[in-house]
Amino acid sequence: MATLEAPELDAATTNLPDFTTETYKDAYSRINAIVIEGEQEAHDNYIAIGTLLPDQAEELTKLARMELKHMKGFTACANNLGVVADMAFAKEFFAPLHNNFTTALAAGKVPTCLLIQALLIEAFAISAYHIYIPVADPFARKITEGVVKDEYTHLNYGQEWLKANLDSCREELEQANRDNLPLIRRMLDQVAADAAVLHMDKEDLIEDFLIAYQEALTEIGFSTREIARMAAAALVG
Ligand SMILES: [Fe+2]
Ligand SMILES: [Fe+2]
Repeated sequence: MATLEAPELDAATTNLPDFTTETYKDAYSRINAIVIEGEQEAHDNYIAIGTLLPDQAEELTKLARMELKHMKGFTACANNLGVVADMAFAKEFFAPLHNNFTTALAAGKVPTCLLIQALLIEAFAISAYHIYIPVADPFARKITEGVVKDEYTHLNYGQEWLKANLDSCREELEQANRDNLPLIRRMLDQVAADAAVLHMDKEDLIEDFLIAYQEALTEIGFSTREIARMAAAALVG
């Protein structure tokens, strides 16, 4: 598991952006919207997965509730800076991943749903929050630090379920990875310019994402070679 401490150590040496400029607020209106939409999608996705796993529904509802709390926290962050989140942009940003999740859900494909939500979206959130914390305004920083711990709990949930069921879902997971990892790569590309305004580096985001994702795949039981093959899917999207 990646440490939570690393970004904090970086904080003293990082130049903070000017949170009051129009340029900052403009970029923040999209980044913040992505975060709010991501938390909303996460909530909906865990509730939806619970319909496929009735014996897990109670646990999944707990995870979903945490996501709504996160969403409220990030909404407060925008209010604090006097920014209105661009939700239309964020909905479009998530649409391809959302559509793939919806298709998998309709087909009853639990492993694919968990790969999309509990591995890819959670690893994406963890990397974004890690890289954001050292350059966040003090209000948002405190909220984000609380959130990132929860996201590890969610990643772990998906990881443990997939680990217990790997024998029956290995091929499905490899296909789900091929279908969805390129989308994450594209999302990182799309967000790079706005993230840079917030002093978040794209290479750091990719690196942190791949660490969280690959660590999860290792825990689930994939071999180094299989993980390398799966990660390579990000290069061909
Ligand atoms: Fe969350
Ligand atoms: Fe989460």
